[in-house]
Amino acid sequence: MKQTALITGGNRGIGQQVARVLAVDGWDVLIAGRDRAKAESAAARLRSDTGGRLKGVELDVTSDASVATAVQKLRDGAIRIDALVNNAGVFGRQTPELTIQTNLMGPLRVTLGMLPLLRDGATITNVTSGLGELANLDAAHRALLSDPALTREALIDAVRRMLRDHEDWGTDAYGVSKAALNALTRIIARDTVSRAPWAVELADRNIRINATCPGWVRTEMGGRNAPRSVEEGAASVLFGVTTSETGGVFRDGRRIEP
Ligand SMILES: NC(=O)c1ccc[n+]([C@@H]2O[C@H](COP(=O)([O-])OP(=O)(O)OC[C@H]3O[C@@H](n4cnc5c(N)ncnc54)[C@H](OP(=O)(O)O)[C@@H]3O)[C@@H](O)[C@H]2O)c1
Repeated sequence: MKQTALITGGNRGIGQQVARVLAVDGWDVLIAGRDRAKAESAAARLRSDTGGRLKGVELDVTSDASVATAVQKLRDGAIRIDALVNNAGVFGRQTPELTIQTNLMGPLRVTLGMLPLLRDGATITNVTSGLGELANLDAAHRALLSDPALTREALIDAVRRMLRDHEDWGTDAYGVSKAALNALTRIIARDTVSRAPWAVELADRNIRINATCPGWVRTEMGGRNAPRSVEEGAASVLFGVTTSETGGVFRDGRRIEP
């Protein structure tokens, strides 16, 4: 049976390269983009470059309705997913709200929405950043995010409070979004291993979740002065697709301090 991957923000940058590699490796690839035309043209481009099987899917990670519609369409097409790559992200001149909605709430929203479509043994890969290192946060928020007892709800509440009260966590919204994404990844994996009520299904189905950092990469986001090629960045992300690990943060296949 062919394996299927879905990559958010797969229409350009690192996500597109992840899609390309998986298509060359024989996966069926769903390129999820917030703009349907861009997702479909990226899929067409990669089909012609690789001879692989790729399709575009409209999916805006900031929208519950968009995720629900995408899930329904995939369900109608009897599609099951072996690898979900939460790659879509924004950096820079965005409001803090949009940054958090895209980089943190997006992966959570897409993960929860796609759960019923994941095959047993599937992997979830959250694309993180070195800018999300805990070392960049002030001591109080470093302690909060690394607390082994932190729950998903408490994490999301704390980030919502940060936005509402314009709290300074010692770094910008991008850094907070990725630090919180690393914590969320650890929490989901921990709840799975300990069979917390909400995560029993994940445990029973051997679903694993990790965060992978591409490094600083030459894309529209990373700019032309970044030291890494898109191929190098995507290779680092792809570790999450096939690993048997869960709950870790990795760069180039090596576990790093979150
Ligand atoms: N480049 C780096 O140096 C670097 C370093 C560390 C981590 N990262 C992370 O790597 C991931 C990919 O970055 P990149 O460098 O490839 O960035 P990029 O070239 O700017 O591409 C970003 C992708 O995310 C998509 N996107 C943004 N908001 C979206 C939304 N609401 N719904 C769906 N898709 C959305 C974009 O779609 P549109 O085309 O529609 O805008 C685009 O496909 C991000 O999570 C980023 O934070 C990058």
